[in-house]
This record gives sequence, C-alpha cells and structure tokens, in this order.
Amino acid sequence: MPINKSTDKKLKILVTGANGQLGKELRQLEKSWPQYDFLFLSREDLPIHHFELVRQFFTAEHPDYLINCAAYTAVDKAETEKELAYQINAESVGVLAAICHERHCRFIHISTDYVFDGNGHRPYTESDPCSPQSVYGASKLAGEQLAMQYDPSCIIIRTSWVYSSFGKNFVKTILRLLQEKPALSVVSDQFGSPTYAADLAEAILSLIDTNKWQPGIYNYSNAGNISWYQFALQIAALQHSQVPITGISTDEYPTAARRPAYSVLDKTKVSEVYGLPIKDWKESLARCLSFCTFSA
Ligand SMILES: NC(=O)c1ccc[n+]([C@@H]2O[C@H](COP(=O)([O-])OP(=O)(O)OC[C@H]3O[C@@H](n4cnc5c(N)ncnc54)[C@H](OP(=O)(O)O)[C@@H]3O)[C@@H](O)[C@H]2O)c1
Repeated sequence: MPINKSTDKKLKILVTGANGQLGKELRQLEKSWPQYDFLFLSREDLPIHHFELVRQFFTAEHPDYLINCAAYTAVDKAETEKELAYQINAESVGVLAAICHERHCRFIHISTDYVFDGNGHRPYTESDPCSPQSVYGASKLAGEQLAMQYDPSCIIIRTSWVYSSFGKNFVKTILRLLQEKPALSVVSDQFGSPTYAADLAEAILSLIDTNKWQPGIYNYSNAGNISWYQFALQIAALQHSQVPITGISTDEYPTAARRPAYSVLDKTKVSEVYGLPIKDWKESLARCLSFCTFSA
C-alpha cells in the first residue's frame, strides 16, 4: 500500500475543481483505489483563487498529491473575460504550484490542445512550439509556464475534446440536439481526438500509482483523428438516430474564440514512460453512452 513515510498513513490525493467533468469521474473511481485517501473539493469548498484558503487547506490536510481539475473552461466567453480566465487558469495555477513545491506535494495539472495553433499536419508532441489562438488557450499556456516555474517537479497533462456523462460537453449537446432538431450541421474541418474523462481519470491515478514520478508535460487523449462531424455521426449511430447530419466549415459556424483546425496529440511519451494504454475513441464513446442516461 502506498504510505506517507512521515505520517505512516495512506497517501492523500486532493482534487480541486471536483464538480467538473474530470473531477466527477475521479470521484467515481474513489472506491476502486482504496489504497489512497481522497479529498474532493468543489469550487465552493476551495476556490483556487483564494490563496489564503488554499494555504490553510494544505496546512490542515498535508496532501501528498494535488490533481488540479479546476479551470475556467468557457472557451468563447473567455474572449471577453480575459482577466478572469487568466486569474483561474494562470495566476492561481502558479500559486498552487508554489504551495505544492513548498509542501512537498506532487502537483498534477491539466492543460489543453488549445495551446497549439492547429496549423500542423501530424500529431503534436509535447515539445512542439505552442501558439494559442484564443484567450482560453493563452491562459492555459500561461498556467503551464507558471506551474513549471514555481514547481519544476510538476506533471502537466495536456488533453483534448473532453466529454463525460457529467457536465456540459459535445456528446451531451449532440444527444440533446438529436432529440430536439429535425437535422444537424456540425463542423467538419476541425480535427482532433476525443477524450472520455473517465479514461483520463483512470490514467491519472494509474500514473500516480506507478510511483515513478517523471516531471514534465504529457499528452493524453483517446486514440483517433476525427472531425467534430465524424464524432457527431458516431454518437448518432450509437443512438440509432435517423436525424440527418451535414458537415459544414468553420466559416459557416462562427464562434468568438478561434479553435485549432488540427490538434491531435501524440501520446507516445505517456505510453513509453508510464505504460498507459491509449483507448480507442469509438470504444470509449460507446462505453460512456452505455453507462449513462442523458436527459434531453
Ligand atoms: N472540456 C474540454 O474539452 C477540455 C479540453 C482540453 C483540456 N481541458 C482541461 O481539462 C481540465 C478539466 O476540464 P473539465 O472538462 O473537467 O472542466 P469543467 O467540467 O469545466 O470543470 C472545471 C471545474 O473547475 C471549477 N472551477 C472554476 N473556477 C474555479 C475556481 N476559481 N476554484 C475552484 N474551482 C473552480 C468549476 O466550478 P463550477 O462547477 O462551479 O463551474 C468546474 O467544476 C481543465 O483544466 C480544462 O482546461 C478540458
């Protein structure tokens, strides 16, 4: 059993942003990982931008690991709420990193494929140059940089197109629209890899459990290179929906924030260093849909 040598207790994992998609999927796994003590903190329990409160929690709880799932994730709104996006995604992440470093707590932070400009034509590796096209992407990149500055031994996991039965996401939106609309139009010229948040949650805990801490950035998503249109088609097929879906261009679906046209992540590093399996996107989608009931 993983033990904290200074306290002789089970290792304690603190999860911030615990009411988001990833936070809730981690919570679902709690019983399958009895060798750890988990402390799940929602925004109400611990707003990560309240630095004094964060310090108090660390003093009281002495976590061995922090998984930061808290983030400002409203990609379009961020274009007009730049300060707030940077406060949560950058400044607060720097403070979490500094506190983790001071308290010898291992810090796992989650970042995004939106740090890339999307002009690439092969999967992005962790060392490819970043050039975010949106405020959200830029705030997340700033968060990565501050995390590494204040806690050089942190681990950053970049992921993409996250969905779950919890929260708001593309899968749930398509399921709802299939119920509500006679036909759908979905962008067919943006390519990436979906990530079932349950797989990401399992991957994070497996990484911790290897007890092989190799700081740095790691990409993680499901395997696949698809457009949002192909993603929607597969959701509809699994639902046996007859609603017609048409592919449209990004120009035909204008949004406040620019998205990368291509943001497939290369998962070689996380597979080689941690031996983590990269699950097929179709299988993971089917699993998510079969486990969950979605309300319209
Ligand atoms: N969703 C995606 O497609 C995607 C893609 C790539 C990377 N990521 C990254 O993956 C991570 C997890 O994303 P997710 O999809 O699970 O996001 P999510 O569902 O939006 O969850 C984020 C959580 O953070 C909480 N939060 C916001 N501000 C906070 C603050 N100041 N203090 C504490 N908690 C705060 C939110 O609280 P409320 O519930 O009260 O709003 C929410 O529960 C994030 O770092 C995100 O940037 C996500």
